[in-house]
Amino acid sequence: MYDLSAGRKAPFVVPARRGGATISMDALYRRAAEGLPCWIRDRAGSLWEMPLNRWIGGTASSKQDRRADEQILLACPGPTIDLGCGPGRFTAELASRDTPALGVDMSAMAVEMTLRRGGVAIQEDIFMPLPHSGRWQQVLLADGNIGIGGDPVRVLRRARELLAPHGVVVAEMDAPGFGVRHEIVRCETAQAVGDWFPWARVSASAAVDLANAVGLRVVNIVEVAQRNIVEMATT
Ligand SMILES: C[S@@+](CC[C@H](N)C(=O)[O-])C[C@H]1O[C@@H](n2cnc3c(N)ncnc32)[C@H](O)[C@@H]1O
Repeated sequence: MYDLSAGRKAPFVVPARRGGATISMDALYRRAAEGLPCWIRDRAGSLWEMPLNRWIGGTASSKQDRRADEQILLACPGPTIDLGCGPGRFTAELASRDTPALGVDMSAMAVEMTLRRGGVAIQEDIFMPLPHSGRWQQVLLADGNIGIGGDPVRVLRRARELLAPHGVVVAEMDAPGFGVRHEIVRCETAQAVGDWFPWARVSASAAVDLANAVGLRVVNIVEVAQRNIVEMATT
């Protein structure tokens, strides 16, 4: 669920879980809102700090991140559905620019944070029926969300279903260099951990093959502040 490449590799002092406490996405976003850190761990034991400040956005994020976010926003000039919107920085910003935007997230806290900052969002699984399917000009997969569920082809096929004719999928991918890395990861804080779940890291090098696999074609790849923004249009 997370753009592993973005987070700092945590010094290995963080560690081991304490007493079996678990953490949900909602609790994780509550921590993010308080500026508290969270980590993601893969099965091999590697640990990354999650880029929560970036997801919260605004003054919490770096100047570099805001530059890359602006590139994403410029790629969404028309009605946009933001799949896995998190705290909703894109959904809310598009709304403030009078661009129709809908955020979708499974986390109630993520949806609440999106609504609180002026965006429109629904609590739903992106694979379940969604409003205005087949009529969205942009489908946004920010922060590595193409990796949701560990199956980027399934996510991209879902995105294609939601697109209007001549619509564009805007997806953030890792730096070129590897194809698709399937992982099992979990969230961690100093007090608790989440359940293990499948996630895929997708490099921009895999964009053309993934797009072809679902009847899309890559029309643009831009790297801003080490973030790779890939636009894929219907063929
Ligand atoms: C990497 S975070 C994205 C953060 C977000 N793009 C942002 O701007 O802050 C992934 C998000 O996807 C959501 N998510 C993961 N799987 C989902 C699914 N199947 N349906 C809906 N939301 C999902 C998680 O709850 C989480 O908020």
